[in-house]
Amino acid sequence: MQHLLSAADLDREAAVRILDTAQEMSRLTDRAIKKLPTLRGRTVVNLFFEDSTRTRTSFELAAKRLSADVVNFSAKGSSLSKGESLKDTALTLEAMGADAIVVRHPASGAPHRLATAGWVSARVVNAGDGTHEHPTQALLDAYTMRRHLGDLEGRAVVVVGDVLHSRVARSNVLLLHTLGAQVTLVGPPTLLPVGVESWPCRVSYDLDTELAKADAVMMLRVQLERMGASYFPSAREYSRRYGLDDDRLHLLPEHAVVLHPGPMNRGMEITADVADSPRSVIVEQVGNGVLVRMAVLYLLLGGGDVEDRG
Ligand code: CP
Repeated sequence: MQHLLSAADLDREAAVRILDTAQEMSRLTDRAIKKLPTLRGRTVVNLFFEDSTRTRTSFELAAKRLSADVVNFSAKGSSLSKGESLKDTALTLEAMGADAIVVRHPASGAPHRLATAGWVSARVVNAGDGTHEHPTQALLDAYTMRRHLGDLEGRAVVVVGDVLHSRVARSNVLLLHTLGAQVTLVGPPTLLPVGVESWPCRVSYDLDTELAKADAVMMLRVQLERMGASYFPSAREYSRRYGLDDDRLHLLPEHAVVLHPGPMNRGMEITADVADSPRSVIVEQVGNGVLVRMAVLYLLLGGGDVEDRG
């Protein structure tokens, strides 16, 4: 693996290797000293052109747990706010010796451009680009589901809501399909992208029927900030048709878990009671994000047997 730009970069073997490595990382983090020396002397740059809470902090923690030097670089407070281009920013980071660049960008395809334009020799990790992809989110979601459900082969995963604007949904569909899960997208027709019928998943408009068969349900954030038009009559109508509330929670089989990539609109796509219920693994997803991002950085920059390097 040279870069991680898309969930489609991962075949089943590569995806399972990352998930198994994350599992090994979880054993190491139970130790009193949580650090591995693996990436000592390496530099990881978090290059964020868009706001983030979970992804940026978990990549920072992951790199630090592997003993890398970490530079956090955000558009606010840098020369990016003076109009510096992606190319000039990349050349600057290259001159400073970045070994890995974790990039979030509002433009779909920006991480691919950074990885392939010849500006940098660093490994590039896509930390979310526009409405395109968020592969490490899909990996941490799969890791969390595997912890609760075991092997995902044949498991039914229902992804609900604003698929149109969701990079998380696209990466999840690709990765879960690779891992053998059966994915069903549910949402209003206005929030399903043109061409969704070519994605490796089913589409349904009947949430209650799908919930009764689900092993996991993933609620997507309604991305009001990306909506230039009205995609549904009202927030109340959206919640009534596609929100996960206590009544709907009871439709799920007993073993099924509830996920949300965050940040949540409590009271819109998910009620506060459901988000905080024992069926919710939303906080656990965040912790698992550190493990999965450790695994990704480790495999991109280090590799080898985790125990040998501990
Ligand atoms: N899930 C996710 O990407 O969250 P952040 O925007 O907080 O990083």
